[in-house]
Amino acid sequence: MKVFVTGKLSQKAFDALQNFAQVDAYESDDPMPREQVEARLEGKDALVCILGDQVDAALFQKRPQLKLVANVAVGYDNINVADANEAGVLITNTPGVLDNATADLAFGLLLAAARRIVEADGFVRRGEWTGWKRELMLGAELNGKTLGIVGMGRIGKAVAKRARAFGLNIIYTRKCDDAKTDGELKKAFDAQRVSLQDLCKLSDFISINCPLRQETRHLIGKAEFALMQAHCVLVNTSRGAVIDEEAMIDALEQKKIASCGLDVFEREPLVPERLMALPNVVLAPHIGSATKETRAGMDELAVKGLLEAFSGKLPANAVNPDVWNKFAEKLKSKV
Ligand code: DGY
Repeated sequence: MKVFVTGKLSQKAFDALQNFAQVDAYESDDPMPREQVEARLEGKDALVCILGDQVDAALFQKRPQLKLVANVAVGYDNINVADANEAGVLITNTPGVLDNATADLAFGLLLAAARRIVEADGFVRRGEWTGWKRELMLGAELNGKTLGIVGMGRIGKAVAKRARAFGLNIIYTRKCDDAKTDGELKKAFDAQRVSLQDLCKLSDFISINCPLRQETRHLIGKAEFALMQAHCVLVNTSRGAVIDEEAMIDALEQKKIASCGLDVFEREPLVPERLMALPNVVLAPHIGSATKETRAGMDELAVKGLLEAFSGKLPANAVNPDVWNKFAEKLKSKV
């Protein structure tokens, strides 16, 4: 079996993969140009890729022997799953292993934006600090306030866990309407499910934790910003396009909200000049899952799923399990 990897893997994951397959790996940590991915995929049965790699019908048509794509990320908006289903290609992702790292970063951004930590750091470094002042860098306190979590899945819950320790009340939105889960969330975090409109109106802080899908693209736009309170702090560690970036910048410039902590952007790695110019935003380069432990966990889970699939077992982290029979046929026909 032949596998192409578009980035680096932790040693343990790489060794496990090499014990099983002939591995060709891109030598750099930089994003790989699409034409090179296509070229290096020639004759490969599986692709291990990252979220910057676009996977779609054009790629499947060019490389019909491809049977599996292991995305080393929980978000798989870079992959056209309908195209994969059509082509009989099994897709896997890396859920669960990055919840804590991402929730930690969401909280880091929330605290940094609410307590103006990055602004304060620059102030000290520029030598502008002349002594303790009562009104210097006043920010917002978390205790007793309301955090709205948009998307109460695994990462949303990890954010909720941290929020309780900070004395925050929690309201949330979820895609699925399911009273049992709402009851469990009430019990675990005293969290209350609300509509998106109410969440925007009632929250002092908002954390975006839903995946990017067709129905969540620009979920937070002009209308939602108009409902938010002027002191609201918005944090996004999901995908940039869940928020209408233009509308967000307008809201920040017009002081419709207080500040933002952003790890993700609509057209990464492009960050609009207007956003860069604002002092009340904290910006990070999509590092939600960037801890050594989590990277290793993601790599290992991606490789585990791949090895299971090629050994005849449907992996638990398959995104499109319905394609399993087609995948198994492809595997048997040794195309
Ligand atoms: C993911 O896994 O989707 C993160 O955004 C990148 O690790």
